[in-house]
Amino acid sequence: MSANLKDLETKSAQKILEWASTSFSNIALASSFGLEDMVLIDMVSKLNASITVFTLDTGRLHEETYQIMDRVRSHYGMSIESYFPKFEDVQSLENEKGFYSFRESLENRKECCQIRKVEPLQRALSGRDAWVTGMRREQSLTRTDTPKVEIDPGNPNLTKISPLADWTLAQVEEYISTHKVPTNPLHKKDYPSIGCAPCTRPILPGEDIRAGRWWWENPDHKECGLHRPR
Ligand code: ADX
Ligand code: SF4
Repeated sequence: MSANLKDLETKSAQKILEWASTSFSNIALASSFGLEDMVLIDMVSKLNASITVFTLDTGRLHEETYQIMDRVRSHYGMSIESYFPKFEDVQSLENEKGFYSFRESLENRKECCQIRKVEPLQRALSGRDAWVTGMRREQSLTRTDTPKVEIDPGNPNLTKISPLADWTLAQVEEYISTHKVPTNPLHKKDYPSIGCAPCTRPILPGEDIRAGRWWWENPDHKECGLHRPR
C-alpha cells in the first residue's frame, strides 16, 4: 500500500476503488445489498477490477434480499460468495434459547450476531489483505469518524476501505437513479437500512434511517460487531 492514507480522503469513491484494486492482492467487498453496497457493486462492475463480492447469509434474511442478490447475479453477471454461520452454533443457540433470543437482552442479541455474522465475517476475510464496506459517516452516531481507508481496528493485517464514507444519502440515491442500479424491493416499503428480517422494521416519517434496525435498543450500541470501534 503506497499511497498516504490521509491523501486518499480527498479522492472520489471510484478513484479509491481503482487504487484499492491495484494495491491489494486479495480484496473483497462485503455486501448486504443495501443501497450503498449496490452503488459499490455498480462501480466495481464498471472498473472490471478483481474484487470478490461476498455476503454473510445469516439464515434470517428477508425474501427480498435473496431476490436482489439473484438480480445482481443476472444483471451484472457477477458471482456472490455466501458465508453461512456454523450450523452447530446455530443449532445449539436455537435449541437452548429459541428463535427470538435476541429480543431478550443486549447480551443475547450480540450472541446471535456473533454466531450469524461476526464469526462468518472472520472466515470471509481470512487470507485477504483488504475489504470494502458501504459504511457512511452520516449513518449513525457510531460511524461519524469512519475514514475512507484505515488499518482495520479489529485486524492489523487488513485494510478496511469505505469509499462512500463522506457520501450523503441524497448522493447515494442520485447515483442509484442516474446509473439505473437495481435495488432491494424493501427500500420502496420504507426500509432504508436492511439487516436480518426479525431485527429490521420499516421506519416512520421523520425517523432516523437506522431507526428500524434493532428498534428496541438504544442508538449508541446499534452495531452487530462487524465493525469494530476505533
Ligand atoms: S450493520 O453492522 O448495521 O449490519 P450495515 O447494515 O449498516 O451494518 O452495513 C454496513 C456495511 O457492513 C455494509 O455496507 C456492508 O459492507 C457490511 N455488511 C453488513 N451486513 C452485511 C452482510 N450480511 N454481509 C456482508 N456485508 C455486510
Ligand atoms: Fe441475529 Fe438479529 Fe443479529 Fe441477525 S441481526 S444475527 S437475527 S441478532
